[in-house]
Amino acid sequence: MSISDGNPEFEALLNYLKQKCGCDLTGYKRDSLMRRFRHRMQQLNIENYAHYLQYLQEHPQECSSLDDTIFINFSGFFRDRDAWDYLANQIIPQIITRKQPHEKIRVWSAGCASGQEAYTLAMLLAEVLGIEQYLQRVQMFATDVDEDTLKQARPASYSNLEVADIESGLLSKYFEQIEQRYVFDSKIRRTIFFGRHDLTVDAPMSKIDLLVCRNVLIYFQPETQAAVLVRFHFALTDNGFLFLGNSESLTNNKQIFTPVSLKYRIFAKGQKLSLQDHLLIRPQTRNKKAVDPLTMQTRITQAAFETSPFAQFAVDQRRCLLMANEKAYVLFGLKNSDIGARLQDLEVGRVVNSWAFMRQLDRSRQPLSLKNVEWVSKLGITYLDIHITPISDPSGQLLGANLTFIDVTRNKCCEDELERLKSSLAKMTQELQLTKEVLKQTNTELGADIA
Ligand SMILES: C[S@@+](CC[C@H](N)C(=O)[O-])C[C@H]1O[C@@H](n2cnc3c(N)ncnc32)[C@H](O)[C@@H]1O
Repeated sequence: MSISDGNPEFEALLNYLKQKCGCDLTGYKRDSLMRRFRHRMQQLNIENYAHYLQYLQEHPQECSSLDDTIFINFSGFFRDRDAWDYLANQIIPQIITRKQPHEKIRVWSAGCASGQEAYTLAMLLAEVLGIEQYLQRVQMFATDVDEDTLKQARPASYSNLEVADIESGLLSKYFEQIEQRYVFDSKIRRTIFFGRHDLTVDAPMSKIDLLVCRNVLIYFQPETQAAVLVRFHFALTDNGFLFLGNSESLTNNKQIFTPVSLKYRIFAKGQKLSLQDHLLIRPQTRNKKAVDPLTMQTRITQAAFETSPFAQFAVDQRRCLLMANEKAYVLFGLKNSDIGARLQDLEVGRVVNSWAFMRQLDRSRQPLSLKNVEWVSKLGITYLDIHITPISDPSGQLLGANLTFIDVTRNKCCEDELERLKSSLAKMTQELQLTKEVLKQTNTELGADIA
């Protein structure tokens, strides 16, 4: 029986949500989805899906509060402890030994809910690497489709009950007790990028060494699971690992992942993707009207960055390269593998003293400009005006900086030419003055002789 044969009223409801609210739930398993909708309908005293659809049409704000109805955000620190122990003892050391000491370790907690999974990962990595090394080398992305749950994840403040599964040693090392709450170490917290990301729609991250997606795939239909797994394959480096939840298995039969531990649901990246699989990686188009405003805003920002007529790149507060547009790639000869590296370790680092400008930004939080900076590359000598703009979070904490490079080589040449002309004019004026004086002197002497 196909899905649409199931319950036409419910399918009409899902279609409405997809078309009008930008909330595509068509890839989710129907049983649990229906249960959650029924729960919401009971709260509103609504008897059937058709009436609920009518209610949605009459109360558009209901769309924006649906996240609470649909998503189950339950999470916990060290959830399924044995699996985390296996990860800490067997997998994390392998990831670290396969990397050069200067290389970044990129981790993605997908479906991170209120953050416990990401902070568990951070603690395990910091335990193996040491905090200093962790701060220098680990880049962690923690994403979820539900913005409300991310709002709880970012401040990293948990109750007594929520931290009950953390060993006391780790609790006192990584958490600060503030009144009745436990708040995760702020230095480490700042290295985790929390963002909204829909696994069924959005393009995946890339170059990930460890992808943790636990207790999320279980909510998806098998075809949606398979499509998400293709994206996970793309997201991982060749030596990357995928860590799923205890009750999750790999439903696709294409062997794009090979088991490392079936018991703990840990997989390594397997055989290459087919051409058809590759089509699943691109972001899926949503109904124009239905695009989530946040995602839309992010896309516009990205497009503006990409299509800027000037070379631009952004660095984080540790002066690591976060992103660059096409013009910057060409001007500075950047490679994809440069993303994540410290600016001073890259060729492009020669163009600015990243340490000095970050320090100055940190102090003043004001944009900086550098004029006529010489950049010598294979393309020749280019003169650049560099505008450095601080990026801060709403609390004023410096997150990084955006650097825009304006090619002023032509102006510089004109200025140089003008300078050259000015100085030869000055020389000629001087010579003329000298000649005048000599003439005057000669005239005076001639006058004296005649007299
Ligand atoms: C049960 S929680 C799991 C939390 C955590 N991974 C754990 O195991 O403790 C499931 C999370 O998946 C998120 N989720 C559901 N659908 C998603 C999607 N399409 N993309 C990203 N996250 C999704 C939910 O919002 C929820 O926070």
